[in-house]
Amino acid sequence: MSLLDLQSNELEQLAADVRAKYDALKAKNLNLDLTRGKPSSEQLDYSNELLTLPGTADYTDKTGADVRNYGNLEGIADIRELWAEVLGVNPENVVAGDASSLNIEFDLISWSYIFGNNDSQRPWRDEDVVKWICPVPGYDRHFAITEKFGFELISVPMLEDGPDIAAIEKLVQDPQVKGMWAVPIFSNPTGVTFSREVVERLAAMETAAPDFRIVWDNAYAVHSLTSELPDNPNVIALAAEKGNPNRFWYMSSTSKITHAGAGVSFFASSVDNLRWYVSIAGIRGIGPNKVNQLAHARLFGDAEGVRALMRKHAGSLEPKFRAVIEILERRLGEYGVATWTEPKGGYFISLDVIDGTATRVWELAKEAGITLTKAGSSFPHGKDPRDRNIRLAPSLPPLDEIVEAMDGVATCVLLAAVEKRGA
Ligand SMILES: Cc1ncc(COP(=O)(O)O)c(C=O)c1O
Repeated sequence: MSLLDLQSNELEQLAADVRAKYDALKAKNLNLDLTRGKPSSEQLDYSNELLTLPGTADYTDKTGADVRNYGNLEGIADIRELWAEVLGVNPENVVAGDASSLNIEFDLISWSYIFGNNDSQRPWRDEDVVKWICPVPGYDRHFAITEKFGFELISVPMLEDGPDIAAIEKLVQDPQVKGMWAVPIFSNPTGVTFSREVVERLAAMETAAPDFRIVWDNAYAVHSLTSELPDNPNVIALAAEKGNPNRFWYMSSTSKITHAGAGVSFFASSVDNLRWYVSIAGIRGIGPNKVNQLAHARLFGDAEGVRALMRKHAGSLEPKFRAVIEILERRLGEYGVATWTEPKGGYFISLDVIDGTATRVWELAKEAGITLTKAGSSFPHGKDPRDRNIRLAPSLPPLDEIVEAMDGVATCVLLAAVEKRGA
């Protein structure tokens, strides 16, 4: 029975019931937060050994170099090799950096803007307009970077197997389209993993701009909620096979594996792209934090060590995701007022409410002491054209708070829906 099928007396009855629930919710004076996808302190504890690594007994990398000193822009072989195995790429194609992959993404775009990249005819700042493809809903911080540089952001819908590839193939025929954001596995916020076909078409498509790049932000490559890891194709090799060796700027980091903001980031790409990157990175600085890189290499031991740690994370996250989905199903399923993703990994659940009510749901939740990510934040310029999407981030709060918050959110979704129907 959908809300739309209710007779007016049934709708009035439901509205009265939901309003009573909402009043009771407000009376609880909650202070709950479901906004950002941060690891919980329980998850951070799994890597506490890092706080004592690499230790004072041995601070040399596998080549015998002292990691406490300047140098080695590409990062130490110990962690580059280990991470190359985690990602399934060649170690020669991996540079290990400091704590944040987002910092490198900003650098890559900023340097292309100021200097041009290794395939540019001119710096992007000398173009009349730079256009950038944004799968939506997507990651707000990605959009914020390209907004900051004044690019024209072109939304492309995220489908069940990845972004609308046919639309992208058309868009890239415009030479002003210089790039695209992509979170290929357990995408932020939908949890979608790109299909093999979409990945191959992205690698193979002809682009009018010779310096076109896909920011392949594989932030959730190993962040599965189940015992299975998704297929993670080696896009660097694939793009080379298809004749587009420089297509992907492949990003990764340990932020949601060890300690967020204190981990190691990775930039994987063609040797030419890395050479261009290092030529500028070497002017920006003298070398990355190799002490932290060695600490991470020792904490993990090997690629299997990373996977074992991720299974612990899954043990903490999976019950939280299950609780959110169970509450949405139980409270909203019968009314047809919302749809939601049921991701097998990543950090988010994407909730679509009735068109035109997401902002109202956000306001109602706020008034009841539940902070949700602002409606629209998963879209360029923070504007969801249908005002229907809400990103839920269940990782940080303890399970009992999630249950309380989600029950409240369900009440707000229903209240906004009955309001919309004029009840
Ligand atoms: C898709 C995506 N990329 C990058 C980041 C941030 O990564 P880092 O901590 O390596 O800068 C996040 C964090 O939420 C993310 O969701």
